[in-house]
Amino acid sequence: PSGRYEAEAATCDGTIDSNHTGFSGSGFCNGTNAIGAAVQFSASVASAGSTTIAVRFANATAAVRPADLIVNGVRVQAVSFEATATWTAWTTKTLTIQVNAGVNTIRFSPTTAGGLPNIDYLDVTPR
Ligand code: GCU
Ligand code: CA
Repeated sequence: PSGRYEAEAATCDGTIDSNHTGFSGSGFCNGTNAIGAAVQFSASVASAGSTTIAVRFANATAAVRPADLIVNGVRVQAVSFEATATWTAWTTKTLTIQVNAGVNTIRFSPTTAGGLPNIDYLDVTPR
């Protein structure tokens, strides 16, 4: 099984909010504005290898909110969550990662005091 993983069903170091419309599901993760206040998804795929993931976010601050992308406990790259026009201007960023067969943890951990952007969901392309 693969597909969409809603942030409200993930581990969110913050609150699940619904005040900025346009999100999928019942809400989004409003991470605490702090270094390391992360969101972590558990995603299953049938086979090991490369897959694309798409994270939907909003960041209505003037500043980029950078984060580490950590897959199965290993930091694999830095991700820049750019500013969006408003908190309801949800935007999707696509990345490529290597996954194991079975359950994978996919974690975004912010590296600056602003924390993460608001996170709506993670799509994992089945494989
Ligand atoms: C505002 C906004 C939140 C957001 C926060 C932030 O408070 O309403 O949804 O998470 O800013 O800067 O992280
Ligand atoms: Ca926040």
